[in-house]
Amino acid sequence: MHTTRRHTLHILLTCFAMMFGASSVPPEPVTGLKDYYTDFFPIGVAVNPRSLHGDEADFIKRHFNSITAENAMKMAPLQPAEGKFNWRLADRIVDFAVTNNMKIRGHALCWHQQAGNWLFEDSQGQPVSRDVLLERLRTHIHTVVGRYKGKIFAWDVVNEAIDDNPNNLLRPSKWTEIIGDDFVEKAFEFAHEADPTAKLFYNDYNCVRPEKMKRIYTLLKRLKDKNIPIHGVGLQAHWSIFEPSESELRAALDQYASLGLEIHITELDISVYPWEKERRAKQPDEADAFTDGMRQAQSDQYGMAFHVFREYRNVISSVTFWNAHDGYTWLDYYPVAGRKNHPSLFDANRQPKDAFWQVVNF
Ligand code: GLA
Repeated sequence: MHTTRRHTLHILLTCFAMMFGASSVPPEPVTGLKDYYTDFFPIGVAVNPRSLHGDEADFIKRHFNSITAENAMKMAPLQPAEGKFNWRLADRIVDFAVTNNMKIRGHALCWHQQAGNWLFEDSQGQPVSRDVLLERLRTHIHTVVGRYKGKIFAWDVVNEAIDDNPNNLLRPSKWTEIIGDDFVEKAFEFAHEADPTAKLFYNDYNCVRPEKMKRIYTLLKRLKDKNIPIHGVGLQAHWSIFEPSESELRAALDQYASLGLEIHITELDISVYPWEKERRAKQPDEADAFTDGMRQAQSDQYGMAFHVFREYRNVISSVTFWNAHDGYTWLDYYPVAGRKNHPSLFDANRQPKDAFWQVVNF
């Protein structure tokens, strides 16, 4: 349905509901989130195989037309020991997407976390040589990318390589220790060999914060200058009601786009608490409530973000949420275990929140 007609219908239905005294019944969207964005970009969500059943699967099919494996395609879940590939969970996700005509973003081929220790050690537990690790990386990438060739349209090839310490460019890790900084280039080359048609992305967090943005830009520019096959940058949008500002977001999009890269918004959620990284215990004065102030701030922040995304539709070619609704979110466990967060467009009953309406009413 044409966007304007859909909105008119929605307004009419809401008016009827109010006229007939049903104003307390929250309005139901007449169509799925993705359908409001057909002229812009696919709308994705990260999933686990357990979300692909019953009502949850129906909800996902209704609102999203792209999926990403939250965990099932990371290095350790896929290859927990050398040569032992565990395809069951990843295959289920791919089958679900193919059956339902959804796009698939692959996540992630090389990361410093959730990578088995075996990668870096020989049978005596000693560090392997650069050549051995490169060969293991190549085999992993070729096997995984090869299996899903033609089904996965874009891969996060390297995840989170930039250090949190502003004095460094790359984060010190087993990858840099054993291979050196060019592990990033090698990963992209291996992925491109394995599927020359897949779009290859570098993915990271806090990439809209001005300081980190500059360092990510430096890395990406180096890769482009060396003709490394990289097609885009994934902005993990683990944002909050406190950041980013509209001007920071625009500045980052302009900067990355100036390299001729596509931009994917990946891992989108808008936490109602300030960003933190270190795990810590919940404090007694931390309430779980979703206050009116949070509701308003979150809906403004989502509204601002999607307004900018729509304006940048020529460079933003995908937007992926990290969790589908507030009933299940990784932010309930991290970094403050047990503190309820409310970062999604849908509440725990899968009902649209105010933020949803901000995102679709344009
Ligand atoms: C990072 C990773 C994701 C996921 C989140 C936490 O953003 O890229 O794969 O692990 O952390 O859910």
